[in-house]
Amino acid sequence: MTTIQRITEIPGPKARALLERRAQAVTSALGRATDVVIDRADGALIFDVDGNTLIDLAGGIGMLATGHCPPRVVAAIQAQAARLIHPCALVATYEPYIELCEVLNAITPGDFPKKTLLANSGAEAVENAVKTARAFTKRQGVLCFEGGYHGRTLLTLSLTSKYGLFKQNMGPFAPEIYRVPAPDVYRRPASMTEDEYVAWCCSQLERALVAQIDPTALAAIVIEPVQGEGGFIPMPAAFLRKIRELCTVHGIVFIADEVQTGFGRTGTLFAVEQSNVVPDLMATAKSLGAGMPISATTGRADIMDATHVGGAGGTYGGSPLTCVAALEAIGLIRDPAFLAHARHLGEVMRHELQSWQSWSRSIGDVRGLGPMMLIELVSDPITKTPAPALTLAAIRRACANGVVLMRAGLYSNCIRFMPPLVISEADLREGLAVVEEALRWAEEQTP
Ligand SMILES: Cc1ncc(COP(=O)(O)O)c(C=O)c1O
Repeated sequence: MTTIQRITEIPGPKARALLERRAQAVTSALGRATDVVIDRADGALIFDVDGNTLIDLAGGIGMLATGHCPPRVVAAIQAQAARLIHPCALVATYEPYIELCEVLNAITPGDFPKKTLLANSGAEAVENAVKTARAFTKRQGVLCFEGGYHGRTLLTLSLTSKYGLFKQNMGPFAPEIYRVPAPDVYRRPASMTEDEYVAWCCSQLERALVAQIDPTALAAIVIEPVQGEGGFIPMPAAFLRKIRELCTVHGIVFIADEVQTGFGRTGTLFAVEQSNVVPDLMATAKSLGAGMPISATTGRADIMDATHVGGAGGTYGGSPLTCVAALEAIGLIRDPAFLAHARHLGEVMRHELQSWQSWSRSIGDVRGLGPMMLIELVSDPITKTPAPALTLAAIRRACANGVVLMRAGLYSNCIRFMPPLVISEADLREGLAVVEEALRWAEEQTP
């Protein structure tokens, strides 16, 4: 008995009718990764409007560490909705906001006094971190990285790399942003060893502080400890340590964007823990809220308090509904058994995906950190020419066969695996088997 149950083709007739209505009513600018039309979801399973049961390996782009509709989160939201939906934190104070900030201050890395600001989206959390760093340092420059993704508000879009998909026709972008290469070990020059390459990337970073902007003008360095949208590229510990060193020496604010990597996605609560690096500020969102729109900027109290009164906030940030959801989600994720299961899922994926390399001609790289895993597909393993069409074909077939899946990567040639971390090993293996078949099929179709 399999978990995936296909009653109709996917998309079936009801799904197709809704997709047609979507095409008429919703802006086409809002892309969609799949043709799946959902009725309800539970844990790692999605039930579509035609009665099909699918396995979710996309996890809402990594925001569902605790799975769809975890009962504890649902109960907390229901109870809170009956008491107080939202008074606006700029108008009045309520305990869930304070409690969540206390918890975030306690669980984020760093044993210095911390404070937190809540908002609605990952982009807002990053943007608030940058604004806070500017207010603290009285400097304007922000250094970010090729392949980085930080959101779609104008400031975070300016920080985001990957021009074609996200930024076309949207300039002018925010000024005082400087971008340098981030280590991508798979695509390093063939003449360099891994260590030499990372050392070279560190030297490029130092060079940028001479060639692009003086460190005395730099407010912040913003980095994802594992690039998400860019293709699950873990930043080497030595590179993160170099950033820490430069920030400490020059009084620059180190901002870790853990919007995608945070809350168990890499097998620890936060990805930076695995490099023993402590940022000054951290932006979190996604799995923090178990699907509710909430984000946080957390970090050194002296930095967080540097903005003038009134310089932060918004109507909806940190509503009681989202705060109680986050408190429950954090409670679930901090359970050592939850994180142990997450790490086990990562090992299963790594082992399984690496085993595909014995038959696949297109898997150039298998990489990630913990259960944040990805395969990069290329048409030639020597030239590493990206294979985006093959990637899309495999994803479409896997979806049609009952697995919700997404691509990633600067060249859109990666399949990323971000299952809810509550998925059972059996369901994960069933989902991966569907993807394996889809990739074999796609390779057969592609000359
Ligand atoms: C690393 C990172 N930062 C920021 C964002 C933006 O978050 P949001 O889409 O909630 O604005 C994302 C979203 O994917 C992300 O992965």
